[in-house]
Amino acid sequence: MSHYTAIAAPTGPILADLRSDTVTQPCSGMRDAMARAEVGDDVYGDDPNVNRLEATLAERLGKEAALFAPSGTQSNLLAMLAHCGRGEEVIAGEAYHVIRYEAAGASVLGGVALHALPVAEDGALEADDITAAIKEDDSHHPISRLLSLENTHYGRAVPLPRMQATVEAGRAGGLSLHLDGARFFNAITALGCSETDLAGPFDTVSICLSKGLGAPVGSVLVGPADLIARARRMRKMLGGGMRQAGVLAAAGLYALEHNAPRLAEDHARAEALAAHLRGLGLGDVTQATNMVFLTPRDGLDLGSLADHGLRVSAPEPAMRLVMHRDIDDAGFTALKEAFAAIA
Ligand SMILES: Cc1ncc(COP(=O)(O)O)c(C=O)c1O
Repeated sequence: MSHYTAIAAPTGPILADLRSDTVTQPCSGMRDAMARAEVGDDVYGDDPNVNRLEATLAERLGKEAALFAPSGTQSNLLAMLAHCGRGEEVIAGEAYHVIRYEAAGASVLGGVALHALPVAEDGALEADDITAAIKEDDSHHPISRLLSLENTHYGRAVPLPRMQATVEAGRAGGLSLHLDGARFFNAITALGCSETDLAGPFDTVSICLSKGLGAPVGSVLVGPADLIARARRMRKMLGGGMRQAGVLAAAGLYALEHNAPRLAEDHARAEALAAHLRGLGLGDVTQATNMVFLTPRDGLDLGSLADHGLRVSAPEPAMRLVMHRDIDDAGFTALKEAFAAIA
């Protein structure tokens, strides 16, 4: 069971879908931008909106180039395949998405080994663990090549000094650096830092447009021009070269302009929900950025939330409750009432 396992859906109207921030519907402004998007064949490099999206994110993150990909999983995979050859190794946190939830794509498709390290309470790795994991040059070992970090991790925005310590340990061991920034803008919102503050220490960063940013599809990998050129070849090989993809890139550009600046609202709602659940005594509650985790007290049946109009994931043992732009004031009031009713 994982937070991707949903429990029974409500049979009546759905008041709020708390499974993930990926469930959002494109708003009318985004749909207009998609409908109006001028497009071209992006495999020929002709799509103006894809080109604009790639250039925008490369510039904002202070990198040379960027590549639009269909998903965060593919964007991370492209990064790992571009950084590593067969027999080389990615070091990452054992609960990080690249290790736990991406079907070991880099191993299956690229002959890349994955070395999993424990993740600290704040979502960071420990510098000493990284140093110990980096293999010496010996024909028995895979060649340690890439350190892949994640921010946010399970909603936690890992503080910059903690990121910096792990980056330094990786660099000292000769590793390249990748950041899975699926929720990059949630991280910088919570940390109160700039885009370049978070992206700066990394060679490559993957950003998802279809999570809190509300676009229907798409992720962008940013990094050095030579590496992005390699990733572009990998994307073609994996069947991810999309033609008139500007309808999707236009949604991404709209998301960056209109939805990135509003993420603090989701964080504030998550904080308010956590306080509400604690007040109701439903169990153990933690919260970070737009996510709340509820570990129910003994005997509490969270399955009955569906009877109150909520779509939720199965507890594992904590139930993940995610705030996003499709939960408005009315939905938020309704979901608080639903929890009060089961309390
Ligand atoms: C941290 C993290 N990285 C990567 C991904 C993969 O994104 P996608 O679902 O677009 O493949 C996710 C998806 O939830 C994620 O949470």
